[in-house]
Amino acid sequence: MIIAKTIDHTREAVNAAKRKGKSIGFVPTMGALHDGHLSLVRRAKRDTDFVVASIFVNPAQFGPGEDLKKYPRPFGKDKTLLIKEGVDLLFFPGAGEIYAADFSTYVEERCLSKPLCGASRPGHFNGVCTVVAKLFNIIRPNTAYFGAKDYQQLQVIKRMARDLNFSVKIEAMPIVREPDGLAMSSRNAYLNREERRNALCLDIALREAKRAVDAGVRESGQVISLMKTIVLSHKNAKIDYIEIMDADSLTSVEKMNGKVLIALAVVVGKTRLIDNLVIKIPTR
Ligand code: PAJ
Repeated sequence: MIIAKTIDHTREAVNAAKRKGKSIGFVPTMGALHDGHLSLVRRAKRDTDFVVASIFVNPAQFGPGEDLKKYPRPFGKDKTLLIKEGVDLLFFPGAGEIYAADFSTYVEERCLSKPLCGASRPGHFNGVCTVVAKLFNIIRPNTAYFGAKDYQQLQVIKRMARDLNFSVKIEAMPIVREPDGLAMSSRNAYLNREERRNALCLDIALREAKRAVDAGVRESGQVISLMKTIVLSHKNAKIDYIEIMDADSLTSVEKMNGKVLIALAVVVGKTRLIDNLVIKIPTR
């Protein structure tokens, strides 16, 4: 595996692969890799000829008071995992390589980035769009892989790629969970044993929501109250948001119909966790 810390080195290696006629698959990450990340890498390996992964804890997407400093950075372990998966190139830049001291250009998606995590984390998606746009320009992949764990991020990136004419296919991959249902996340490492147990409330609430919908409930309000009760019955769990939205437009729906997104963010102890479920409701 080539490890490139500079943009020039990365471009040289990707261009060499392109000259050989290889298709380029790209998996952007912030490291602290788990099976969720690796599922994207495996799909990229399956579908493309030259797989690039990036590890960059992007300062621009962290708000003041968020966990930028303490975000886990187990580089040695990550490197070993990526080598095992057969990744061809790891782009591992320092912050100075990505953001010049006088950096002053940002990418903003103005619609899908506003609700949900965009409302709780102002500026977050500007940081995400900016770094992903830069990474797309540096790597120029044919296909880039994103997880549905960050459903809103996926939708925002798809919109950005369309609106700004990036010639990259965005491939969405399903949420990978721990055996007990907790969605895998690098931030799960922050949870102590009791918090780890209580973190299950997100998955439990989503499964109960699904059960209610399967039983015929269509009022979003009813499902949201049910989910609130479940989350709040867990110790040290505070609700950031629980919302039911049209899965494409990310606008709230009162009556569930078509493809809906049920999304929640919950702070367990001090750790903010997100999870979601997309349900297709058959129209009668
Ligand atoms: P990070 O949180 O490291 O996630 C990298 C990719 O892995 C994202 O596409 C995310 O949706 C996916 N992923 C994380 N947990 C997953 C899970 N349990 N199942 C499936 N996929 C999962 O998302 C980011 O980094 C950053 O915002 C980034 C896009 C790299 C821009 O900085």
